[in-house]
Amino acid sequence: MESLNLAIENARSRYASQNPLSQAADKSAERYFPGGNTRTVLHYDPFPLTMVGGDGAELTDLDGHRYVDFVGEYSAGLFGHSNDVIKSAIHKALDSGVAMGAPTPYERELGSLLCERFPSIEMVRFCNSGTEANLMALTTARVETGRNKLLAFNDAYHGGVIKFLGGRCALNMPFDFVLADYNDIDGTAELINQVGEELAAVIIEPVLGAGGNIKADRSFLEMLRQMTKEVGALLIFDEVKTARLGAAGIQGMLGITPDITTLGKFIGGGLPTGAFGGSAEVMGQFNPKTSGALAHAGTFNNNVCSMAAGCAAVGEIYTPQRAKEFFDWSEAFRLSLNEMFAAKAVPMYANGLGSIVAIHFSSGPTKRPSDISTGCRSLRPLLHMELLLDGVLVCGRGDLFLSLPMDETHLSKARLALEKFIDRYKPLIGQVLQH
Ligand SMILES: Cc1ncc(COP(=O)(O)O)c(C=O)c1O
Repeated sequence: MESLNLAIENARSRYASQNPLSQAADKSAERYFPGGNTRTVLHYDPFPLTMVGGDGAELTDLDGHRYVDFVGEYSAGLFGHSNDVIKSAIHKALDSGVAMGAPTPYERELGSLLCERFPSIEMVRFCNSGTEANLMALTTARVETGRNKLLAFNDAYHGGVIKFLGGRCALNMPFDFVLADYNDIDGTAELINQVGEELAAVIIEPVLGAGGNIKADRSFLEMLRQMTKEVGALLIFDEVKTARLGAAGIQGMLGITPDITTLGKFIGGGLPTGAFGGSAEVMGQFNPKTSGALAHAGTFNNNVCSMAAGCAAVGEIYTPQRAKEFFDWSEAFRLSLNEMFAAKAVPMYANGLGSIVAIHFSSGPTKRPSDISTGCRSLRPLLHMELLLDGVLVCGRGDLFLSLPMDETHLSKARLALEKFIDRYKPLIGQVLQH
């Protein structure tokens, strides 16, 4: 649509003229990185901002602009930038040696914290990323069941080699996946029955993140729990992002216990890590004190900086009480956005749950990724650019992640920027969605 394209072009040209240093840095990075980029999700047109510093809930870019950071490192940045407690834990760990090539007290402390919090995690193992955690969970399920087929959901993201955004991805691991539609109880149940005794596992993110921060219906998750049991498959909850929604993640909130849980992002206090855990029986396969045990390797599985940062983050900062308060505060913000959208009679909706939010161009909650309209997708770049121009850093696809150092000033900056966007573009939004 021409008027939308013109509006996007106009916003991009204002953005380019305000960010000459980021533009030049992007250009020169093209010499050594394809398209100047080493992490696809961080690219957006016309070029991404180069960030040079962060403190609390704010970031500063190369051209000197300050932003409220709602990208929040795609949810891993729960603690904001340079949290003092985490910083001193890392410094202390650094002072006493890294890369020790042996077990250390840190991983034992963080492991015990996670096992005590998550009902499904009797035993745990660390790895280096959420992707690795999911790979380990899926391969563990295949070994445990002696089966090959795996069920995942359209538009789910479980890591760079396990993603189904807009279909199967060329870089995916060559596992035998069947795909169902998120929140489709009947269709998914039928597929589970069809695959039946060949099914090793179902993997699901209880809020479908990259697919639009779509909350799974409780009844949908309950069906998955029951049917996987019936066919003898394992249920894997990917709580890499959703674990932040409560002391025990979504599983704790809903009282639904998967067989394997995967974690990552915030549990390393902002440093790289991942974890997968489950019952003592399933995880017992990795016990090196038994013969024929599965060997799970990884030079940096227990790297002391991530483990020390994680202990401080999970143990000292994100206590169950803090997690509950943060959820309530974030959810109130999300609901307040929806009240504002309704009052302005604009078809926009803050999907998601608690501190995991995505702005959709629709009049109500999105239940399935297939409900996201082409118009909604095509309006996202405009919203993204305009919010950046107003100092509110959000993800290109419309996600906002709240972080602990945020306060009401940060939230009202986002609310005001959204109001300004609506006042400027409401007629255009209507036209695009009708098209
Ligand atoms: C739900 C989910 N699972 C897994 C991953 C992969 O984690 P990582 O980027 O640490 O490999 C992500 C990352 O965005 C995620 O959102």
